[in-house]
Amino acid sequence: MRFYLTTPIYYVNAEPHLGHAYTTILADAAARAHRLRGDDVIFLTGTDEHGQKIERSARKAGVEPRAFVDGVAAKFQQLFAELSISNDDFIRTTEARHRLAVETIWRTVLARGDLYKAKYEGWYCTTDELYVPETQLVDGSLCPTCGGKVEWLEEENYKFRLSKYQPALLDWYRSHPDYVVPQARYNEVVAFIERGLDDLSVSRTSFTWGIPVPDEPGHVVYVWFDALTNYLTAVGYGDPSPAARARFAARWPADVHLIGKEIVRQHAIYWPAFLMSAGLPLPRRIVSHGWWTMDGAKMSKSLGNVVRPRVYVEAYGLDAFRYYVLREMVLGADAAFTDDGLHARYTADLANDLGNLLSRTTTMIARYCEGAVPAAVFRDALDVQLEEVAGAVIAEATEAAANFEFSRALTAVWRLVNETNRYLVSREPWAAARHPEARPRLEATLYHAADVLRVIAMLVEPVMPAAAASMRASLGVPLTSWIDLRPSTLVPGTRVTPAPPLFPRKDSPVSDQSPASPVTPQIVTDPARDQQTVPAQPPAAPPMPAAPAPVESPAQPARIGIDQFMNVELRVARVLAAERVPKSKKLIRMTIDVGTETRTLVAGIAEAYAPEALVNRHVVIVANLQPATLMGIESNGMVLAASPEGGRPQLITFDEPAPPPGTRVR
Ligand code: MSP
Repeated sequence: MRFYLTTPIYYVNAEPHLGHAYTTILADAAARAHRLRGDDVIFLTGTDEHGQKIERSARKAGVEPRAFVDGVAAKFQQLFAELSISNDDFIRTTEARHRLAVETIWRTVLARGDLYKAKYEGWYCTTDELYVPETQLVDGSLCPTCGGKVEWLEEENYKFRLSKYQPALLDWYRSHPDYVVPQARYNEVVAFIERGLDDLSVSRTSFTWGIPVPDEPGHVVYVWFDALTNYLTAVGYGDPSPAARARFAARWPADVHLIGKEIVRQHAIYWPAFLMSAGLPLPRRIVSHGWWTMDGAKMSKSLGNVVRPRVYVEAYGLDAFRYYVLREMVLGADAAFTDDGLHARYTADLANDLGNLLSRTTTMIARYCEGAVPAAVFRDALDVQLEEVAGAVIAEATEAAANFEFSRALTAVWRLVNETNRYLVSREPWAAARHPEARPRLEATLYHAADVLRVIAMLVEPVMPAAAASMRASLGVPLTSWIDLRPSTLVPGTRVTPAPPLFPRKDSPVSDQSPASPVTPQIVTDPARDQQTVPAQPPAAPPMPAAPAPVESPAQPARIGIDQFMNVELRVARVLAAERVPKSKKLIRMTIDVGTETRTLVAGIAEAYAPEALVNRHVVIVANLQPATLMGIESNGMVLAASPEGGRPQLITFDEPAPPPGTRVR
């Protein structure tokens, strides 16, 4: 299927920020998802370079508008390259091809009788390039959208008969109830049309930086009429050559215009009306997303509260940045960008959940199966359940991604990541490896873990292309289409190589970094320490020479960051059964419920507690400790107790009723 997707074209009055980066990353991920579904995609982005606002910014910078826009447009292109944006075209409204398209649509609409000259006067906002009705002004002189000061403008200009299209627009909306996503925006659009539409001024005489109105000296085309036409230009409109005409016929209408919520009216009312007037088909869907906010206000260059993406890409890597913004913002809702939020997601979702899963699976296949994916002959309910979750997650994530709902898609994928981590904990392949009779179970476990990682790599591909490629490289699998993505299709015998850390740990959020100390990978526990166990953490990342290791003084041990603490998984557990370990004075063997599973654990508290007194008691355990063998019993976790000097150990207790097993303690 053909899929033509556009972003807004961005104003070049100042440098790009997170808002522009986000829309473009979201569109990029959707474009990649559609390519994976086998669609023939055209993905367009670009810059909106005309208008009074830009003319003024150029003047302020002391340069000609042309040189000014060239400079800023280059910055957008540079940033998009750094963000791995896979656009097929980058349109600039100052290009000759665009002028041709605008002239063509202008003449067509004029010939239709939809343009007429009228005197216009009113309050004008140059930031938004819009006249604002007096009744909507805030405090009598401020624009209700951006808060900037409006100015009084009087000019004779062309008007477009927007009012004439009110019935046709309403008909269109009534017969296309999904036309604007999300629904709340659709409702606003319909309500706006129902209130009645005024004709729209579409030329300006008060400045010259724009596309001249054909045959009308002194007038330039209104920036929104000019800008919206970019979507036609890029697929050949206005170019009279037969090749361009054929291309236009094959490519128009666009499938999705992706935009921020503040420009819905222009896209959902003005644009369809212009197209109806020009006799052209309407785009198929308008998808709008919410705003990134800072301290509750929209992040925008006019407010000066912007996040520069490059800082975060340098600190965490591009994949992590893309992951964070796509995971954090639910389609249609606003979201707050915070350094701590990014750091926490990086540490928990990427370094711990996904990074560890890949690292320990590939390490175990290398160690126990000579680097070849084993066959899964053994099968029990856990395998069936994992396969079922994988199948459901594939369906949900691919559908959500195609609909721009990456937060939902990634939440689903992480359900699978976590399910697989739990599967490994339940199956304990590192323990099975020590018992030859458990070999079939070990092999099935590693087969499924590797197979699911292949599925995960395929599903995160549109969001994190580089990490996905590196996952595929260590799993020895090619990039395939989403069409036949199914669980349990990994070929046994596939060569696997232990993965380098996908997401090396970082010490602290960007805001806590001094400029001289960039984010540094943290040294994690040495997995080679216990040859009998398999690391729960990825192999240690090399320390960066620039960052001196913290000096530990005996008097005051070095403090740890919150993320280091959060790496220790403390959880509530309930004791189901307890008994003394034969021939040991101190040890008690317990069976505990940790919410998601039951485990065996050995604790050195026999001198302080009778086993029967422990049954039904709630304790705190370190849940993600590597297993250890004590008196021949494998212990999975450690019970926390205070051990006063010379006194008996005391277990941590809870108020009644105790929190349910599995509750995190922090
Ligand atoms: N040039 C017009 C659009 C013309 S489209 C034919 C324009 N440009 S803009 O530079 O102001 O960019 C607006 C778009 O940038 C928004 O619609 C949104 O996609 C993105 N964002 C800008 N600030 C944003 C946030 N704070 N949060 C999320 N996205 C934002 O309007």
